[in-house]
Amino acid sequence: MTFNTFGKIFSYTSFGESHGKAIGVVVDGVPAGLKLGEEDIQKDLDRRRPGQSEVTTQRQEDDKVEILSGVFEGKTTGMPVALIIFNKDAQSKDYSSIKDLYRPGHADYTYQQKFGIRDYKGGGRSSARETAMRVAVGAIAKKFLKEKGVSIFGFTREVAGIRAEKIDLKVIENNSVRAPDLQAAKEMEKVILAAKENGDSVGGIVEVVAKGVPVGLGEPIYYKLDSKLAEALMSINAVKGVEIGSGFSSTKMKGSEHNDEPYIVKGKVKFKTNNAGGIIGGISNGDDVVARIAIKPASSIVKEQKTVDRKGKSLKVSVAGRHDPCLCPRAVPVAEAMMAIVLMDMYLIAKTRKI
Ligand SMILES: Cc1cc2nc3c(=O)[nH]c(=O)nc-3n(C[C@H](O)[C@H](O)[C@H](O)COP(=O)(O)O)c2cc1C
Repeated sequence: MTFNTFGKIFSYTSFGESHGKAIGVVVDGVPAGLKLGEEDIQKDLDRRRPGQSEVTTQRQEDDKVEILSGVFEGKTTGMPVALIIFNKDAQSKDYSSIKDLYRPGHADYTYQQKFGIRDYKGGGRSSARETAMRVAVGAIAKKFLKEKGVSIFGFTREVAGIRAEKIDLKVIENNSVRAPDLQAAKEMEKVILAAKENGDSVGGIVEVVAKGVPVGLGEPIYYKLDSKLAEALMSINAVKGVEIGSGFSSTKMKGSEHNDEPYIVKGKVKFKTNNAGGIIGGISNGDDVVARIAIKPASSIVKEQKTVDRKGKSLKVSVAGRHDPCLCPRAVPVAEAMMAIVLMDMYLIAKTRKI
């Protein structure tokens, strides 16, 4: 059993806790000959890094990744690629006062009940610190996929009900919430800062899109592209829902509206609409693969809440420390990474499925 491993051919095993010495990963199944340097991985880590703006946590981690193995003279060797990030700003004292109590919305109670022991410092393994490793693995997958003509991007579609209607890719990395619509971004930022001011947090929706995906990725019946994507995205901390293509809104459409009409361009099948989100029968159809994830409001809030401790005593808690008032901006690179990891794995698997 491999509970901290993901993927079949392109697979990785991550390790490490929020306030432990380091977090790391061993990535297997990377084909030999892929040009890879620390800078390729660092770019995406810097997008997930804490302390980026007022709307993200002020914890300061430079998240400097080191490649320990599997790369020789700038190219992958086909051997396991091991990556490590040493934790620097692990202010464990922030957490000593909450060591025995169950922070509402956090995994303190479930870890304690299940294992009988837990690393309470910053949530230990349940912390989203581990998502840095997903982003690092995703950067390798993105590099591989780019060579195959596949590109992936994500953005914040919605925050606290405020929706980005316009999609202007150029502005995504130029605003603190990573929204593709500057007007909506301003309003989102306002609502996030107001929640922060109030000691509270807000949720939202992150969208992730893959362009240039070839037809034929996804393995019926239990390794379908949509089911694996849902699993990968759902495994990200704080994700409470996943939809592919028109998702839940398809329940309000007629069949005649929902069906994506095929037509021919230069001898190739295209689709007039993309309600399928690029996947039919668990297999990519050549259109953009589109997924959206619902992200809950961050659980760590300064606002006082009632809870209980390990001895069953009722008490009040205000979670001090440095936390994200809205998780969406930092979840964007994590969602992109999980999409990239699934697509690279599916790409390599698909090579084994037809003569
Ligand atoms: C990139 C990222 C950063 C996160 N940072 C925080 C945070 O600062 N405060 C917080 O309460 N939750 C944060 N979370 C979410 C928690 O890790 C998560 O809600 C918690 O472990 C409980 O798990 P669950 O919500 O998946 O059930 C973050 C999630 C992501 C993806």
